[in-house]
Amino acid sequence: MGYMNVLSLFFIQTVLLLVLVAETKAKVPAIIVFGDSSVDTGNNNVISTLLKSNFKPYGRDFEGGLPTGRFCNGRVPPDFISEAFGLKPTIPAYLDPQYSISDFATGVCFASAGTGYDNATSDVLNVIPLWKELENYKDYQNKLRAYVGHRKAREIIRESLYVMSLGTNDFLENYYSFRSTRRSQFTVRQYQDFLVGLARDFITELYRLGARKLSLNGVPPMGCLPLERATNIMGQYECLQEYNDVSMEFNGKLEGMASQLKRELPGFKMVFTSTTYDAFSQIIRNPAEYGFEATSVACCATGMYEMGYACAQNSLLTCSDADKYVFWDSFHPTQKTNQILADYVVKHVLYKFM
Ligand SMILES: *[C@@H]1O[C@H](CO)[C@@H](O)[C@H](O)[C@H]1NC(C)=O
Repeated sequence: MGYMNVLSLFFIQTVLLLVLVAETKAKVPAIIVFGDSSVDTGNNNVISTLLKSNFKPYGRDFEGGLPTGRFCNGRVPPDFISEAFGLKPTIPAYLDPQYSISDFATGVCFASAGTGYDNATSDVLNVIPLWKELENYKDYQNKLRAYVGHRKAREIIRESLYVMSLGTNDFLENYYSFRSTRRSQFTVRQYQDFLVGLARDFITELYRLGARKLSLNGVPPMGCLPLERATNIMGQYECLQEYNDVSMEFNGKLEGMASQLKRELPGFKMVFTSTTYDAFSQIIRNPAEYGFEATSVACCATGMYEMGYACAQNSLLTCSDADKYVFWDSFHPTQKTNQILADYVVKHVLYKFM
């Protein structure tokens, strides 16, 4: 073999090796989800809470028209994110007995509607507290090791993209609720700091358990949720500025904590995203640009705003085309909004992990 041939062979091998390395590096084997109803794909179906959505009209635009326990007419953002990463189009709930570790190995959801960073928040609606989501995740790790072996499990745990989305319930279902004791213990700023500390502890523990890629999502403009707008009678049902300010301030604190953690934890690729805030605000300011006709009322009306977290079973007050609505029920976006939010976060932030 001539000198040039050896050189070019070496060159080709190097290029191939680099391509291979780049491929293994860029790969996300699974999306692993923690949080509340913004990302729950059905865990509440199997626990004893009243906060469920496994009945019609939920899931009306889901494949097969199935109510899955997603608080939506269709899919939620992690489903779209999974698809964008070339993984499956829906992420199964860890507690759903229809699925097993062979499904969860490529994506799993531990989220529980109604939960928050604060233990007292999950108590309000008797849902899965965040510490318990982490216990379930540890259980998942054990099952994963038994299923794919220790080496492969370590790789999946390290290379997966972890998505966290919660916080709204801490404020709206807990702190600002008339039943809450938190308001006598904390000013709202102190409560934000308390929650950020809990988020920090949770993420540090997740890192200690092997996670290296994490997307932490902030809260939406809480004052623009139809549930809250409905209470703004004096303000012509406009968004409640006070709650939006709390959202923005809280997101700022989460972002600060995230950049600090990124510096402290070696090899930790963590991003904070205020997508839900930014994209939501854009949509609400300019709904027509996205094809929306209604922003302040939900497609599925509850008829009882004072407790209307979810829409009523077999509600007759449901709109015919959910794609024209930003909100599905008084607390949760429609599938179309969820897709816009997911596209936005993939395009602006998560592409770094691809
Ligand atoms: C939340 O509850 C768990 C389980 O009881 C406990 O281990 C944890 O310390 C609690 N967190 C806080 C901040 O009280």
